[in-house]
Amino acid sequence: MASEFRRTVRGMRDLVDGEAENLRFIEQRARKISKLYGYNEVITPLIEHYELLAAKLGEENRKRMFVFKDLGGRKVALRPEFTASVARLVATKMQSAPRPLRLFSVGSLYRYDEPQFGRYREFWQANYELFGSNRPEADVEILALTNSLLKEVGLKNYFFKIGHVGILRSVLSYNGIAEEQQNSIMQLLDKKQFDVALETAKNAGSSKSSLNTLETLLNIKGRQPDIVISEIYEAVKSYSKALDAAENLGEIISMLKAGCVDVDLSVEAGFARGLEYYTGMVFEVFVVDMDIAVGGGGRYDKLIGLFGGGQVPAVGVALGVDRLSLALQKQGQKSQRSEENRVLIIAIENSLLGQALKISNMLRERGVVVELETMGRSVSKALSDADRRGITHAVMIGSKEIKDNMVALRFMKERTQEIVPIERLFEKIGQ
Ligand code: HAM
Repeated sequence: MASEFRRTVRGMRDLVDGEAENLRFIEQRARKISKLYGYNEVITPLIEHYELLAAKLGEENRKRMFVFKDLGGRKVALRPEFTASVARLVATKMQSAPRPLRLFSVGSLYRYDEPQFGRYREFWQANYELFGSNRPEADVEILALTNSLLKEVGLKNYFFKIGHVGILRSVLSYNGIAEEQQNSIMQLLDKKQFDVALETAKNAGSSKSSLNTLETLLNIKGRQPDIVISEIYEAVKSYSKALDAAENLGEIISMLKAGCVDVDLSVEAGFARGLEYYTGMVFEVFVVDMDIAVGGGGRYDKLIGLFGGGQVPAVGVALGVDRLSLALQKQGQKSQRSEENRVLIIAIENSLLGQALKISNMLRERGVVVELETMGRSVSKALSDADRRGITHAVMIGSKEIKDNMVALRFMKERTQEIVPIERLFEKIGQ
């Protein structure tokens, strides 16, 4: 076989050397948070109809879908996110499920993004959606849940960038700019191409005063929410819908504060997201010194309607599991593997392998991670390999000690050894 076929496809990764474990650790914590907040897990297919996934994804993301025809000639795609699939569920099978409906998903997603640090073509998300409430407390729940998860995995030095698409869209709508054109402008804002965005708004029919307002909004941002919100009020005072949006954002932020949800907020009036379905509060989470978002979400009240499920307001978030793992590593968090005790059992003679198996199982039944020496190596070779692989304890079974129901227990880090009765092994190893 040609050597290029033995490489992973560009943008795809093999997760080895603890990477898979780190990913599963975050997944496990994400599942724990889903339970603590009452989100039920749903598993949706990896492949969906292209039209469903493409509906409100935004031009940039749409271009990056893995699209193909299945053998039945259907135009399908690999999911680039969970939201469309979960919204489909709510518009169909779960249409009559009692509201609010809280749903959690975790799994792999596919986007033909340009591979770089923290950007892959196959990546993982932990995704939470809350359906049925248009009230600010629902938005607050999603923000608080996100914060809980980040704390749970041990992330430090992160902040939430928060805005409200209603503010920008209301100003754009004021001069009758159609939704399609608004979408293009929002995409440009998302890519920080502010001048092109303003030029596009101008060409689409934005009046001079609306353009001025937009330009002002793009410069309103800061870490003191009260000040930023009052600046937004001032900027949009002649746009009643934008005022409503600013009020909604202000309410969400005050409720977060009242609930003592301790998050660093950077409020940005000109913050837009590439996904087109958002209708209200939007946010992304960034880690200081890392220029990529570890999560993002917001309110989308019209998607279920678009899928024929009636008016169902919704708000949600997706955390990038791979990026969280990268951020934790960068912050020096030890991999999960290194925290637990790992025991190697070595039978010094072949005739003691049965004993070795018995002791392995005894410890495993009590929750200890145990590996059995299966290479037939000498004790010294097995020990030096164990050292290299981060084994914390080695249990050596010799014919002399076993007669008295004893084994040699070696503490790898301390490089000490003692002879202990088998029934005290568990206690000696500790958890
Ligand atoms: P998103 O901002 O497109 O939102 O993605 C959420 C997170 O997924 C990002 O912040 C990032 O951590 C991770 N992510 C995205 N693309 C990649 C990539 N190529 N490589 C690695 N990680 C990536 C959504 O997907 C929305 N569905 C979120 C949402 C849920 N909104 C409402 N409900």
